[in-house]
Amino acid sequence: MIYRYSPRPAGRCSSGPVLIKMVPLHAACALLSLAPLLVLGHRPIWIQPEQVHLSYPGVPGSMRVTWTTFNETESKVEYGLLGGRLFELSAKGGATLFVDSGEEKREMYIHRVTLTDLKPAATYVYHCGSDEGWSDVFSFTALNDSASFSPRFALYGDLGNKNPQSLARLQKETQLGMYDAILHIGDFAYDLHEDNARIGDEFMRQIQSIAAYVPYMTCPGNHESTYNFSNYRNRFSMPGQTESLWYSWNLGSAHIISLSTEVYFYLEFGQELIFRQYEWLMKDLEEANKPENRAVRPWIITMGHRPMYCSDDDQDDCTTFDSYVRLGRSDVEPPAPGLEDLFYRYGVDVELWAHEHTYERLWPVYGDKVYNGSKEQPYVNPKAPVHIITGSAGCREKTDMFNPNPREWSAFRSTDYGYTRMQVVNATHLYLEQVSDDQYGKVIDSIWVEKEKHGFSAWL
Ligand SMILES: *[C@@H]1O[C@H](CO)[C@@H](O)[C@H](O)[C@H]1NC(C)=O
Ligand SMILES: *[C@@H]1O[C@H](CO)[C@@H](O)[C@H](O)[C@H]1NC(C)=O
Ligand SMILES: *[C@@H]1O[C@H](CO)[C@@H](O)[C@H](O)[C@H]1NC(C)=O
Ligand SMILES: *[C@@H]1O[C@H](CO)[C@@H](O)[C@H](O)[C@H]1NC(C)=O
Ligand SMILES: *[C@@H]1O[C@H](CO)[C@@H](O)[C@H](O)[C@H]1NC(C)=O
Ligand SMILES: [Fe+2]
Repeated sequence: MIYRYSPRPAGRCSSGPVLIKMVPLHAACALLSLAPLLVLGHRPIWIQPEQVHLSYPGVPGSMRVTWTTFNETESKVEYGLLGGRLFELSAKGGATLFVDSGEEKREMYIHRVTLTDLKPAATYVYHCGSDEGWSDVFSFTALNDSASFSPRFALYGDLGNKNPQSLARLQKETQLGMYDAILHIGDFAYDLHEDNARIGDEFMRQIQSIAAYVPYMTCPGNHESTYNFSNYRNRFSMPGQTESLWYSWNLGSAHIISLSTEVYFYLEFGQELIFRQYEWLMKDLEEANKPENRAVRPWIITMGHRPMYCSDDDQDDCTTFDSYVRLGRSDVEPPAPGLEDLFYRYGVDVELWAHEHTYERLWPVYGDKVYNGSKEQPYVNPKAPVHIITGSAGCREKTDMFNPNPREWSAFRSTDYGYTRMQVVNATHLYLEQVSDDQYGKVIDSIWVEKEKHGFSAWL
């Protein structure tokens, strides 16, 4: 029988700091489990890692692990090659204290550890935490950094804590190894900050079954706006130094740009953010278009929450001709430029959006006009960017309805719950398909975008 003095009983049997003297440990724990901690609404295991998720920092051979604890602990990841010695490698990072701005001012530690020098395409097994508590064991495959790699993505927006209809299918398909990365195009949890950010915690636990296994790449949506997007900015760990608001990264033959459409709508958080992002976008696109770069990564793909175009019957920005995202805002001083001209000028190939709780595919479009490659093969050498709107993953707000008289750029529409798959096959071929969860995983739409040429000159 073990008798001991426990200096930190909180970690041993999930209770507050108490002296346990001359009492068998298991008996003490049984007694202490009656302590009124749950009644007080505290999480009983404060040093146990949870909400584990991955992101790709944008540097070949790297992967970032992010997780949460409610007490301050060390931030370690122990890992090793699948089939090799378990946890033979280890990496350290740091934690930041995040204080939610809700009434309770709940505190949590967000841990971030970046793994480097990973072998491309090799599978690693890992856990994260510290000697005070470890996560489950997870695995991931380090991204293949070859430009001839053909990455497969799942992408969607508007996935919530309640009614996350597509989640089960996405979990299983992720477990089957169908995706190299996931793109979540804004609107999480509904909402991350609600119930003093407990909904955020719950949502991050829900997506762990996906996000702990493949990089989960994000952009902010309107549902993240509370307290100046602080739950979003603190919980995710995207590349760059913008608190996950805008950034870019490369995979296979694609350069992927993530942006915040929300800067056009929440001027109270800083009108200058529109300009800061715009300047950054211009620089990033300029760089991506240098001949030597575009030759290696010919596809430029953008993702942002609110579309420029849509044919839903709500009164959202994308239903108006003067969409802020598309044309900018002339009602601010100085006037703020929109994104359509910028993306067109730099030959963006594919633009991914969400926000509308529907799926809509557009014919190649610019300036509200259709620019098919040809009448028979609109997506073969299209003369304008291809837009996809995919915001129907599932949330408490149900799906939206369509305007019965769409404009001529609207090519295919569905109000089924679901998500999109994308494969950037090679320099000339990109495949997109829409999965209906309502129809048990049926593929209800698909296209090949084929381009012999990329960049502005491809439009001419
Ligand atoms: C864990 O955090 C709680 C809440 O902030 C605090 O009351 C408690 O003292 C901490 N426990 C340990 C072991 O650090
Ligand atoms: C990465 O992908 C390319 C293209 O499919 C392939 O030729 C290469 O073998 C892959 N690299 C590894 C390490 O598997
Ligand atoms: C909102 O957050 C952004 C990003 O951190 C920051 O640049 C901006 O100043 C903040 N705005 C306000 C009003 O605090
Ligand atoms: C674009 O192509 C589609 C499919 O062939 C066709 O239905 C549509 O009318 C075309 N639009 C224009 C403006 O050519
Ligand atoms: C690119 O992929 C397409 C579709 O799989 C294929 O038909 C084409 O031959 C590939 N091109 C090259 C250069 O491999
Ligand atoms: Fe939204």
